[in-house]
Amino acid sequence: MVEIKKGLEDVYVKETEITYIDGQLGRLYYRGYSIFDLAEFSSFEETSYLLLYGTLPTKNELEDYSNKLRKYRTIPDNLKTFLKSLPTNLNPMDVLRTSMSYLGMLERGNDPDAQIRVIASIPTIIAYYHRITDGLEPVEPSEELGHAENFLYMLKGKRPTKEEANALDKALILHMDHEMNASTFAAIVVASTLSDLYSALVAGIAALKGPLHGGANYEALKMFMEVGDPNKAEEYVIERLRSGKRIMGFGHRVYRTYDPRARILKNIAREITKNTQYETLYEIAERIEQAAIKLLSGKGIFPNVDFYSGIVFYALGFRPEFFPTLFASARVVGWMAQVNEYLKENRIIRPKALYKGEVGKPYKPIDER
Ligand code: ACO
Repeated sequence: MVEIKKGLEDVYVKETEITYIDGQLGRLYYRGYSIFDLAEFSSFEETSYLLLYGTLPTKNELEDYSNKLRKYRTIPDNLKTFLKSLPTNLNPMDVLRTSMSYLGMLERGNDPDAQIRVIASIPTIIAYYHRITDGLEPVEPSEELGHAENFLYMLKGKRPTKEEANALDKALILHMDHEMNASTFAAIVVASTLSDLYSALVAGIAALKGPLHGGANYEALKMFMEVGDPNKAEEYVIERLRSGKRIMGFGHRVYRTYDPRARILKNIAREITKNTQYETLYEIAERIEQAAIKLLSGKGIFPNVDFYSGIVFYALGFRPEFFPTLFASARVVGWMAQVNEYLKENRIIRPKALYKGEVGKPYKPIDER
């Protein structure tokens, strides 16, 4: 008897000391630290160090690591030329995926800081293409600013407020890793063949692009925009579910309760939209959440990370089609941490498929078929 685990649900492919999800209680830990503490007290720099190297850094370690992140922000000139040569209506995830491939082509395979360089480069690629598609001149990174602050600086061409930088910093921490999700697994599959880092990350970006994974943040925002008025939210949810459509940003393979990342993002979204043109979007989201929870919580379906992240990214000035790239800019840390861990005891990933077709069919020449 062969049991087929569709979607590899509940299949364990490795042991890990990186991320623990308690899907029943709605808890998430990176290297044993609660996501609530990390989002409140840590920073992109510190949490990415923690995920990659296993411990919270000392002052000196954090300074060295942050200095490298600052130094490696500048992307190669030929990649800049390539980005400028692109049409301005491309899917930014395609642009990021191809840029990662481009960096991989240029890499000579002997850069000991390749992983830090990748983390540092992605925001520059995203901000570069964002500005090009806005018809603006790209802004070179600043070595004076923190990771999130610099990201927004490159996007807007001016220093963000402390609140804006904090909001992005926290949002990125929340997206950094999530155990064996589809994109992480895709990266591991590629890495397990002993292919190179960049190829594994290209696979991660490719998997994250889908609307059932990292593309859901954009889809969720589209729903809020479509509703337009908080008073129409409940009716919209009922009608959407009646017509067999899903509530985007809801449901999760592992969480059977409220995703802790969504809890934190909801607070960030409320704060960042307060007294701004985005306040109504937040109200719509909240009303959709209430209506959807009424109808779906019985099945263990609650908001996931993608429900409120789009509002945060939008209020910070990113266009919706760029949201999945922001997810990727953080998740790249998790992809690398998980790949590094897997490679310590590597075994090429090679599952099986149960053959249900016929065998031994007579081969017919083409004009007899
Ligand atoms: N809205 C309405 N119903 C839903 C939703 C949703 N968002 N999600 C799941 N369901 C229902 C399904 O219709 C199904 O119902 P049924 O048993 O009556 O047929 C049941 O819940 C189980 O759904 P599956 O698709 O089998 O659950 P799975 O664990 O495979 O899917 C997934 C998880 C893909 C995230 C799903 O919940 C979904 O499509 N959500 C919307 C997209 C989304 O938000 N994706 C982001 C996920 S988080 C991330 O990637 C960062």
